[in-house]
Amino acid sequence: MAPIILSIMTATTNSIETLRKEALETLEQTGEAGLDQWRAEWLGRQDGRVTLLLRSVRDQPPDERAAFGAAANALKNDLEDALNQRREALKKKQLETLATSGAIDVTLPGRPQPVGRFHPVTQTLRDIVAVFGEMGFRVAEGPEVEWAKYNFDGVRIPEDHPARDMWDTIWVDKEIGGRRDMLLRTHTSPNQVRVMERQQPPIRVVVPGKCYRQEATDATHEWMLTQVEGLAVDEGIRMSDLKGVLYEFARRMFGQDRHITFHHSYFPFVEPGVEMAVDWPTADGGTRWVEILGAGMVHPEVIENAGFDSSRYTGFAFGIGVERVAMLRWGIDDIRHFYQNNLRFLRQF
Ligand code: DAH
Repeated sequence: MAPIILSIMTATTNSIETLRKEALETLEQTGEAGLDQWRAEWLGRQDGRVTLLLRSVRDQPPDERAAFGAAANALKNDLEDALNQRREALKKKQLETLATSGAIDVTLPGRPQPVGRFHPVTQTLRDIVAVFGEMGFRVAEGPEVEWAKYNFDGVRIPEDHPARDMWDTIWVDKEIGGRRDMLLRTHTSPNQVRVMERQQPPIRVVVPGKCYRQEATDATHEWMLTQVEGLAVDEGIRMSDLKGVLYEFARRMFGQDRHITFHHSYFPFVEPGVEMAVDWPTADGGTRWVEILGAGMVHPEVIENAGFDSSRYTGFAFGIGVERVAMLRWGIDDIRHFYQNNLRFLRQF
């Protein structure tokens, strides 16, 4: 370094040109990897050769100072430009050689990026809710950890009532006032009461959500299941309204030429209670009835429990098993497929 600095000290604008020549020549021979080092040597803030040159302006004889300064500055700018151009040129050349050397085959199709999607149960849940949304039902939600007073008492399933056997309950292991009162909801029906507590008739609401039961798991039973509860309460609601709404649901969900049938069933919170089945094609070209939901006219006591006058208000309710509908829709024969997180299964939907 020392001799160079000496030469700068005594530099004239002529020697600036010598410096420029040297800088540009070495730049031409510098590859991508050496560019930063070249920059440090010539333009580095501390002791780059052009930086030192600029610093030496004040040591020049007064009458040469201005010209010298201008030339040194021009050199600095030119070298910066040259460096940028060199960088660009090298990059371009690299891309060209990549393209022509066959390292990139531009005729190959792109690699598909994996795209996420909704779980089949979620897709079905959304479709069900959308159909009822079009019919004027709002969506509400309720807690998965529920009180017994909503899950059972509010919907007419008192303690010791045999109907509690219909749902083998998963209790939260905590006693409140000497009783176990907290549980994982066994159905979405407690939300009938919760909605009526918050809202005056006319009520039209669907409540989607997960439910939990202490079940021995098999092809049609899981300990977690998804339901959509429906509730309509108003003056003058009749059984024909229930049938009309559910018929419309079946047709919008499964196709316009769908048939439905109702048969009597028992649920403590409705009277009368029904189960609805839709006709479904069988392999031999015929059809069979497949039950997809429970429903009924809201029991007057449930309406009274919620604080409404049951001589004025009537209502209907229904509870749809979402996994059931999804299984039907795609011909899935085992409910356990849904919750095994097997991508080979899930990617098909
Ligand atoms: N909660 C019932 C169950 O989990 C389903 C049900 C039946 C809901 C009839 C209703 C209804 O609203 O009216 O099995």
